[in-house]
Amino acid sequence: MSSKVPTREEAYQLLTEYNKSDSLIKHALAVEGVMRYMARKRGKDEEKWGVIGLVHDLDYEQFPEEHCHKSEEILKEKGWPEEYIRAVVSHGWGLCSDVEPQTELEKVLYAIDELTGLVVTTALVRPSKSVMDVQVKSVKKKWKDKRFAAGVNRSVIEQGAQRLGMEIADLIADTIAGMQEVAEEIGLKGVYQEK
Ligand SMILES: [Fe+2]
Ligand SMILES: [Fe+2]
Repeated sequence: MSSKVPTREEAYQLLTEYNKSDSLIKHALAVEGVMRYMARKRGKDEEKWGVIGLVHDLDYEQFPEEHCHKSEEILKEKGWPEEYIRAVVSHGWGLCSDVEPQTELEKVLYAIDELTGLVVTTALVRPSKSVMDVQVKSVKKKWKDKRFAAGVNRSVIEQGAQRLGMEIADLIADTIAGMQEVAEEIGLKGVYQEK
């Protein structure tokens, strides 16, 4: 018996039911934006990729100690398809799960999750506070400065790029582009464009 495909609306509702923190919701929206962009570019199911991006950290606010595991439990209870649940759990491979990213979707999610954090901090140190003028070279510069956004795990991103067979620079470019599409929603449209 196959489960019903969850809609974006259901995913968003679930996200905001379990998460109240503004920064976690913005992170979810950023990852969704990048997943959508990547899916479109690769001719994949944009809705599916976006929905999985949106809920990938579903349990993090309430169950940080059980990250990934609790999401699996919640999504199973909601009757989500196995493919979606597996992808969500695999983003924490080596950190909070032993489910290795295998599909293209899973590999992309694994590679871009932490990278979105580096792009956010790179945008926030700009005078404009905008993701619209963040460039690959500025993210790469910040990448090398280990004290900058020290919480961002560079080796996970490196491994992710490798698994995808992508250059880091191209992965950064796609991540920036995906986040620019949701700049407004993630609060990175910039100080000069706000009304
Ligand atoms: Fe996570
Ligand atoms: Fe995340």
